[in-house]
Amino acid sequence: MSHRALHLIARPDGTPKDSDFEMRESAPAALADGQVRVAVKYLSIDPAMRVWMSEQKSYWPPVGLGEVMRSGGIGEVVETKSEKFPVGAWVSGMTGVQNELVSDGKGLQRFDASKLPHPGWALSVFGATGLTAYFGLIEIGAVKSGETVVVSAASGAVGSAVVQIARNLGCRVIGLAGGPQKCAYVKDELGADAVIDYKNEKVSDALKKHCPEGIDVYFDNVGGEILDAVLKRLRLKARIVLCGGISQYNAGSEARGPANYLSLISARARMEGFVIIDYLHRSGEAIAVMAPWAQGGKLTSKLDFVEGMDNFPEALRRLYSGQNFGKQLVKI
Ligand SMILES: NC(=O)c1ccc[n+]([C@@H]2O[C@H](COP(=O)([O-])OP(=O)(O)OC[C@H]3O[C@@H](n4cnc5c(N)ncnc54)[C@H](OP(=O)(O)O)[C@@H]3O)[C@@H](O)[C@H]2O)c1
Repeated sequence: MSHRALHLIARPDGTPKDSDFEMRESAPAALADGQVRVAVKYLSIDPAMRVWMSEQKSYWPPVGLGEVMRSGGIGEVVETKSEKFPVGAWVSGMTGVQNELVSDGKGLQRFDASKLPHPGWALSVFGATGLTAYFGLIEIGAVKSGETVVVSAASGAVGSAVVQIARNLGCRVIGLAGGPQKCAYVKDELGADAVIDYKNEKVSDALKKHCPEGIDVYFDNVGGEILDAVLKRLRLKARIVLCGGISQYNAGSEARGPANYLSLISARARMEGFVIIDYLHRSGEAIAVMAPWAQGGKLTSKLDFVEGMDNFPEALRRLYSGQNFGKQLVKI
């Protein structure tokens, strides 16, 4: 099998295009002592990839032009010169958009795929996605039972986990999603107390209706107009968890800031960003809480597959148009 890897060859202007990437083939590299060869099976498609492709200052350096596109992924060890990683072991890590990874094992974590409903759960609720929801709510949101929690992109990977975790912690949860099908999923399958179809309802009116006493915690995945509408309905001492701002990622330096930020003053509220990489060393803590919920049917995950690495750009675009329904993966 030849080594196939997708390289970033241009910085996107707006939404990423197919021509921003180039597939390159090469002969597989021989293994040195201590190395493993991983056949990459699934890639995690993340909205932040758009930021990694630009020259914006971020928590990681930009992907260099000509480099293999950065991506999280999971795969199976197919050849090994490392005692820590036997053939057949499943691993997760930053694999890159390629069909195989040769690694010294640094940054790779083994996991038991037979204990999961699907190996892809290691990239959704039991991967960085679920940890983002958990630590965002607990650490940044300081969420308490009985509070009113609002979450945007509620049918998505992070948002769907936020809805369920907040429900399991005894909160009242209002989810925003685009369209009737996604809203029905958030309410009927994830258990939100109320949903707002932001594409077909006036968000400020709907927030007033569903949060008459105001909002204690807003888990923000989207930024833009929805963040502004939430800012007008904060309860005293509210917390805004700035997880992401997908509505602004393709705008580059023209990203729109929140016009209603002065509401933070009168509400004595806090708005704080976070990046999950700062909490990965505490993943065991989160999994210990979430695994029993999953076993008891109180935490689920919807996976959305795009077939083939050549379709990586299309899979990425699906996030910004809302075509994905659940955690977007590419199956290699
Ligand atoms: N801080 C961290 O460490 C961290 C880690 C992981 C992810 N994140 C962030 O978390 C957010 C969610 O990521 P994810 O992987 O779970 O993606 P996702 O929610 O599964 O997919 C993105 C969703 O965003 C919604 N969306 C797209 N454009 C929108 C717009 N203009 N306005 C409102 N909603 C829009 C779409 O849902 P609808 O169909 O409902 O519009 C789409 O399905 C992203 O902002 C991401 O960058 C942050």
